[in-house]
Amino acid sequence: EKGGYEHFMAKEIMEQPEAFRKTVFPRIKEGRVVLDDLCFDAGYLKNLDKLYIIACGSSYHVGMAAKYNLEKLLRKPVEVALASEFRYCDPIVTEKTLALVISQSGETIDTLAAMREAKRLGARVLSVVNVVGSTIARESDDVIYTWAGPEIAVATTKAYSTQLAVTYLIGLYFADLMGTIEKKEYDAIISELLLIPTKLESILERRQAIQYYASIYFNHPSIFFIGRNIDYAIGMEGSLKLKEISYIHSEAYAAGELKHGTISLIEPGTLVVALASYQPLFEKLMSNVVEVKSRGADVLGLATDAKGAEMAKTVDHTITVPDTHPMLLPSLDVVPLQLFAYYVALQRGCDIDKPRNLAKSVTVE
Ligand code: M6R
Repeated sequence: EKGGYEHFMAKEIMEQPEAFRKTVFPRIKEGRVVLDDLCFDAGYLKNLDKLYIIACGSSYHVGMAAKYNLEKLLRKPVEVALASEFRYCDPIVTEKTLALVISQSGETIDTLAAMREAKRLGARVLSVVNVVGSTIARESDDVIYTWAGPEIAVATTKAYSTQLAVTYLIGLYFADLMGTIEKKEYDAIISELLLIPTKLESILERRQAIQYYASIYFNHPSIFFIGRNIDYAIGMEGSLKLKEISYIHSEAYAAGELKHGTISLIEPGTLVVALASYQPLFEKLMSNVVEVKSRGADVLGLATDAKGAEMAKTVDHTITVPDTHPMLLPSLDVVPLQLFAYYVALQRGCDIDKPRNLAKSVTVE
């Protein structure tokens, strides 16, 4: 059942190109995003006061990445809320609010309760769900399924990737309806989107390098992930993946925030995973890398092919991913981080598919 892999997590990481294809390709027809089940109109979308993304854990991290992209595409405010906080913060939701609810299982109780509250306050609910017929899917006004297939490992990988993919589709679909995207840009994103599965395959083929880095760093007591903009959102996911299955203390930081506190924790032997794939902020990120290096940190860098050689001059080791449209970077960047978490946990002899204290679907508050 594990398809020859030692763990479901490894199998599910390797299934990502296919899961991405299944989720995205049938929804692109003649160069356009077609979401047959949805019927949003331009007037409704233009009238929105905001989009409120509601989710937990990794699904929340998808929301964090989606916020950058959706705001860029739609020029509407996007708020991202942890479902467990949403109900208790007197959220500002009106009939002009669209709630985007993201959940693999469709049964996470915090997310479900937050969704019901958003509905009660008048929001229309669009959910992104993997499990067909789950409670969240049934109670939403609209649902877009991720076609990741069953995900068994507690640590999500292919569900996260397909959720991200669906947020791109939603962004393009809405931007097209609202007229907030130029045709050239739209076409450029679509053609890059179609290349993602092949690029994912090339990253997976190079997984031995990541296994090697894991063998160097698996005993580090503390690991920081730093990034700016969309790289910061990816860092959050990389950090959660690592701590969830390897039990190493880890934090994700917006790189520019380091000097407001966290840099005091950097000392010789701390590992910093520096995410520098977002090219407009590459130089800025590199200046943060210099800061942590000068305090003795080991730095594992992640950049796109275009910037890999430049990054390698400053960091200890560099992982590269193929270049793509900046909005799609999370899809590529997350894979080396999933692999890193997996191989670190493997080295440490952890129970990878069933980490201690965790359940696949959290149905208690
Ligand atoms: O099923 P959901 O997407 O609603 O689950 C949300 C979180 O519990 C989930 O993403 C969790 O954080 C994962 N175990 C992380 O790998």
